[in-house]
This record gives sequence, structure tokens and C-alpha cells, in this order.
Amino acid sequence: NSGSTVKDVAEYLGVPIPEIIKKLMTLGEMATLTQTLADEAIQVIADEFDKEIEIVHAADDVDIEPTYDDAAEDLVERPPVVTIMGHVDHGKTSLLDAVRETEVTAGEAGGITQHIGAYQVHHNGKAITFLDTPGHQAFTAMRARGAKVTDIVVLVVAADDGVKPQTEEAIDHARAADVPIVVAVNKIDKEGADPTRVRTELTQRDLQPAEWGGEIEYVDVSAKTKQNLEDLLETIQVVADLEELKANPNVEASGHVIESKLDPGRGPVVTLLIDRGTLKIGDAVVAGADWGKVRALVDYKGDRVKEAHPGDPVEVLGFDGVPEAGEFFHVVESDKRARVLAAERANRLKTESIARRSGRKVSLEDVFT
Ligand code: GTP
Ligand code: MG
Repeated sequence: NSGSTVKDVAEYLGVPIPEIIKKLMTLGEMATLTQTLADEAIQVIADEFDKEIEIVHAADDVDIEPTYDDAAEDLVERPPVVTIMGHVDHGKTSLLDAVRETEVTAGEAGGITQHIGAYQVHHNGKAITFLDTPGHQAFTAMRARGAKVTDIVVLVVAADDGVKPQTEEAIDHARAADVPIVVAVNKIDKEGADPTRVRTELTQRDLQPAEWGGEIEYVDVSAKTKQNLEDLLETIQVVADLEELKANPNVEASGHVIESKLDPGRGPVVTLLIDRGTLKIGDAVVAGADWGKVRALVDYKGDRVKEAHPGDPVEVLGFDGVPEAGEFFHVVESDKRARVLAAERANRLKTESIARRSGRKVSLEDVFT
């Protein structure tokens, strides 16, 4: 199983330990006795020694996200997390910008320039989190990692252009992820805009408008004239309310990496989206093969904060590297534990790559013999 060391594997296969280590070396890996091997690497070794094995996955696999079982009384409402998707040029970026500007108050005449990959706006006194990563790629990449970071998809369709291939793709992605869709019919200010045609076309894709007796909320908007943006936010909140999005804030934080980059001045800068719990300065955190001790937290406005709560995006300083988008993160009890877990994960990734390398080696041998 996934917790097996070189020693365990040797005993299980009935092969002397030095033989296993030698085999690993020929596969390009210097292994120690107590090193944990990935399932794929174990399978490769078993194959090399002509042994039949069955790999059983342990329940405590470090790569599997835990499911939490919070008591109902510990749960409080959290902001919905919204991703904007749609066909190229239909106005995703313009709409994100326009929605962001609804939040700009008189004191912030210059607008919110900080870019952390996500931001929040407030409506009826409640926050809505927008992921500032429009497009299917980010969404698909995160889903490929098993990360469910979006609660609602806003499907942008230009009223003068109608349903296009990437509109259909976006619908497929939202459905595969089982995420409710709100349709924003954009560019209604334009000559030739035909919001009814958009509804008709999308009805053929099973997105019947609520106003026609269906289940899908449509809002006609213009990112250019800023028409009906408050209606869009209102609709998002109505849909979010139906989802009953709640989280326990009074535990150690966990969630997902939204994006990360290496800043020449500040080092690794990792944007996290908190799913559960409260992230605080000084927390020890693991994200994939990287770990950190939270040195500073920066919110979407660029302000330093002491804590981040469920549904909040936050920029974290203090990581040792740049974990990939979609990676699960969680706070652990100590820096030491964080370092160990990150190292274990790094090790797994490394041994998995041995399995891949050995695959190539076999084919090369085939070529040369
Ligand atoms: P990609 O990122 O390339 O997929 O495009 P996008 O969906 O982000 O579209 P973007 O926001 O870049 O807008 C495309 C063009 O449409 C730009 O020239 C915008 O100015 C224009 N546009 C966006 N929204 C509106 C709108 O509501 N009305 C009008 N008239 N033009 C708009
Ligand atoms: Mg864009």
C-alpha cells in the first residue's frame, strides 16, 4: 500500500533489500531503507522481479482530501465562490472588472489595483467571492486535481453573438462539476443585441430560463454601461442561498491554492481560498509538496490582515515554494509536521517519476535489443 518503505517492499516481495535498492538505482533513484515508495514505483519493482502484487490503497493517503464532518451548530454561512466562463470576447474580463468596480467606494477613487487572482464584492451586506481566473483552463486544471473551488458558474454570452463553441464547453464543465449556472447575457447595449435569441439557443441546451418556467436565472447586463450589475449580484446571492453554503470557522484552516508565483522581492506568494476554518499569522501550512509558516496575510484589496475566513481569498507569504493551482492546503499542528508532510509528498512525486522514467527505459531497451 501507499505507506510502504523499501524495507516493507523487500519483505513483501521476498527479495533482498540490496537487490531492491540496486534496482531503484538502475532506474535512476538513490533510495534508502526507510524511504516510502509510491504505488507506481512499487508496481514497477514488482514487475522487474516478476512478482504478482495487488496494491491496496490506505485510507490515510496523504494526497486524498479529507472530508470533514462538522456538527450543524458549528456551521456558519460563508460567501459563495463564483467563476465567470464563456466564449472568447463575450466579455468575461470586462464583466469581472465592471463587477469589481461596483465595490469601489468614494475613498478608493483609483480603484482596486491589487491583483491576487480573486476578489470580493458586497451586496446586501454579504460578500461574494469572484475568482479572477476566467476561462476554462484554470477551472479544468483545478478540477483535474479534484479541487472543487467554485460554487456558481456565471456563463457570459454576448447578446449580439449568441451561443458559441466555448459557451457549450463552459456548460459541459459546469455540469461535470455539478455547479449551478447563472447566465449573464452581456453586451445588451450593442446594436443587434438579441437577449431573447440567447435564451432560445440556451433552452435548446437545457438551460430553460426561470422566466419561461425553467430553473435557470438569466440577467441581461452590459459590462460597458454597467447596466444591471446589481441584479446580477442579487441573482448570484439568491442561487447561493439555495446552495446553503456553510463552513465551520472555528477549526484549523484548509482549502485550495488559487495561484502562486515567485515574487523577486517577497519570495513565494501563494493565493489561497479558505474552504473551512480560520487561517492566522504564524500557522504552519502544507500545500502539496510545499510548506510554510504564515508570515503575512494580504487581502484582495492589498491590506494586511491577521486572519482569513471561509470563502475568503488571501495572499500568503511564508511558503518555501510555489504549490500548483488547485492543490489542497491545510494547517497542521507544527512547522515540523508541515515540513515532514511536504517532504513525504515530494518523495511520492519523485518516486512516481521513477515509474514513468522506467517506462521509457523499457521502450529504449526494446529499441536497442
Ligand atoms: P477573452 O479573455 O479573450 O476570452 O475575452 P473576454 O471574454 O474576456 O472579453 P473581453 O472582456 O476582453 O471583451 C471583449 C470585447 O468586448 C472588448 O472589446 C470589450 O470592450 C467588449 N465588451 C465587453 N463587454 C461589453 C459590453 O457589455 N458592451 C459592449 N459594447 N462591449 C463590450
Ligand atoms: Mg478575458
